[in-house]
Amino acid sequence: MTTLKFSGEVAGFYRRYRRGYPEAVLDALVAEFGLTAEDTALDLGCGTGQLTLPLAARTRAVVGMDPEPDMLAEARKAAAGVTNVCWLVGADSDVSALELVLGGEKLGAVTIGQALHWMDHETLFPALHSLLRPGGGVAVVTNGAPMWLHDTPWSNALREYLSGWLGKPLVRTCGAEQEEQDRYRASLAAAGFTTGETDVDYEDEIDLEHLVGAVYSAMPEDLLPKPDERAGFEERLSVAVSPFAPFVEPVRVRVVSGRKDATSV
Ligand SMILES: C[S@@+](CC[C@H](N)C(=O)[O-])C[C@H]1O[C@@H](n2cnc3c(N)ncnc32)[C@H](O)[C@@H]1O
Repeated sequence: MTTLKFSGEVAGFYRRYRRGYPEAVLDALVAEFGLTAEDTALDLGCGTGQLTLPLAARTRAVVGMDPEPDMLAEARKAAAGVTNVCWLVGADSDVSALELVLGGEKLGAVTIGQALHWMDHETLFPALHSLLRPGGGVAVVTNGAPMWLHDTPWSNALREYLSGWLGKPLVRTCGAEQEEQDRYRASLAAAGFTTGETDVDYEDEIDLEHLVGAVYSAMPEDLLPKPDERAGFEERLSVAVSPFAPFVEPVRVRVVSGRKDATSV
């Protein structure tokens, strides 16, 4: 069911170094689905809770669901003191089983942050439609392009360094391509949702520690430099990118939304 992509040490790097979502994104979700303190939401592919936790602050309760137990273990750490989140091991193919847990209650929102590219969205969206209340909906959220794919001197240097390390060019964009997002939107419409798109743009400056940590958080566990290679890896990475500091990243968070009609059942 699960992949090894986010297991082991990678999960810890993900919790510590992956950026979360600005409040403007949460504002957009609340406005789009009319979310209130009465609503329950599902954050599918929740990882270490980057979207689950701010969503919990805006709703009655959130179910964070992910097939990778190591990510959920880190999410629990991140959620220390938060009492209205429950974490479930499960993948997109398990969402229909949530009806048992919800006991007739309908969800106000389902968020999928940086994770839909792992799922079968053609099957998932119709399944989510029946779990949602009228006016609620699905939000497919992309948290910016990978930091090594920008056209800035430090990002170019990082891309070149990582391509050399991995022995292949780096091109994958994890659902950030317009074409993929158009496909998601069409698929939401085919499942009966009214679709929309909202962008939140900002710039974020990160330091070298966060740059390295974010790189580690994006590697499968078996590709992480071995512990005894790590100092050398980081030193060479620093030599490659430091001439181009500060590391300022343009971040575009895109929310592709599908709202269930207010008259739907
Ligand atoms: C890049 S992380 C995103 C974490 C978080 N939602 C965020 O916005 O940062 C992708 C997550 O999707 C999860 N995932 C992978 N395959 C999945 C599937 N089939 N169903 C649900 N989640 C899945 C992974 O375990 C991982 O935690």
